[in-house]
Amino acid sequence: MHSFLIKGGVPLQGEVEISGAKNAVLPILAATLLTREKCVIRGVPNLSDVVFMGRILTSLGAKVRFRGDVMTVEADRVKGHGDYELVRKMRGSICILGPLLARLREAEVSFPGGCVIGSRPIDLHLKAMRALGARLMVEEGYVRAKARRLVGTEMFLGGKAGPTVLGTANAMMAATLAEGVTVIESAACEPEVTDLADFLTAMGARIQGAGGPTITITGVKELHGAEHEVIPDRIEAATFAIAAAATRGHVTLRNARPTHLSAVLDKLEAIGVNVQRNADGLTVSRSGALATTDVTTQPHPGYPTDAQAQMTVLMTQAEGVSIVTERIFESRFMHVSELLRLGADITIEGPTAVVKGKTRLSGAPIMASDLRASAALVIAGLIARGETLVKRIYHLDRGYERLDHKLRKLGAHVQRLRK
Ligand code: EPZ
Repeated sequence: MHSFLIKGGVPLQGEVEISGAKNAVLPILAATLLTREKCVIRGVPNLSDVVFMGRILTSLGAKVRFRGDVMTVEADRVKGHGDYELVRKMRGSICILGPLLARLREAEVSFPGGCVIGSRPIDLHLKAMRALGARLMVEEGYVRAKARRLVGTEMFLGGKAGPTVLGTANAMMAATLAEGVTVIESAACEPEVTDLADFLTAMGARIQGAGGPTITITGVKELHGAEHEVIPDRIEAATFAIAAAATRGHVTLRNARPTHLSAVLDKLEAIGVNVQRNADGLTVSRSGALATTDVTTQPHPGYPTDAQAQMTVLMTQAEGVSIVTERIFESRFMHVSELLRLGADITIEGPTAVVKGKTRLSGAPIMASDLRASAALVIAGLIARGETLVKRIYHLDRGYERLDHKLRKLGAHVQRLRK
């Protein structure tokens, strides 16, 4: 298992290229199942989750090629069920349900397990498929879906924590080939949903309102192949912006789209970080003290849950007490127990973390637990005096392309240990 050995205290300086968005490319790859023609996806990050999705598509019978940052998929012949083990291992694969049902009128996907950040239910995905006319059974760890035909309808997809990103993606993809008009109320507004809608439109789908809370899809007979460039990863950008602020650095994020992470940039400016938005990205720098703030995670355009852990680390360096509240997932503070080992002063009260700053962090061996918590631990290592060993780095490799390489280019002392 790989680890990162980090020597902290070095301000990040220079330029970093933001890669394509993992959470955009996963549903877009699933959408290639909707046509038998070739699709070419560009700007694809080389991440283990993306390679995994490619293997799932191959197990369904599609021809998949991944060269550089271009993934080509030709699903001229697909079957309705993939490799159970593959599908079970990656939660994001649930988004093959909608496309398979739309293309084949049947689908069998493994019921995705929960993960460290929460139970990860899929009731809203199933509600959407049933609303379109599918009959669903959950048995032996599978979701088995069948539909004589899919008929457009109105559906409300809001859950206890608001909209569902992949649930909206599944509903939108299935509706593209349904008969008639589908209206999704309380749709997720994340930029990744808009990017998927853009790709589906390029395939010949008829979609209105993506990016807003109501999306209208008019079904068509079939979809054709298309080419698409994936949007940059707003969470990777947020992670580097926070790391620049945390290390009193000066970093230009090439290819980042400031409008995709407005809530994060707004917070950073509110606590004294300098943010310059420019044509092809943004520059983040910090030299003075950090003010405290309160952060509550919300659906887009609110503060993203995927950047909560990183902000929690930054708040350990603010002058006073900050409050971080996690409203999207039930247990997304796995990073806190590891931060305490570095000397942070954080107490958890239910969905809220009370972060006391400013604390001096000192390096120690710590354990990564989930993708974004791992990124937070790396930022903590960049701040801490001395050496920090972040173990189980495979969590990071799921969602950050060559993070150690990118950090070294910014001057950080980060070494990947292959043991
Ligand atoms: C997507 O997950 C992202 N993953 C997550 O990023 C992200 O944290 C999440 O959206 C929220 O922004 C991908 O896009 C691959 P949800 P998704 O359905 O779609 C509840 C990362 O680190 N819910 O929007 O699975 C759910 O429990 C990952 O990159 C239901 O109740 O998340 C949660 O409380 C982590 N019923 C809330 O909705 C459902 O049927 C939001 O979940 C589905 C979800």
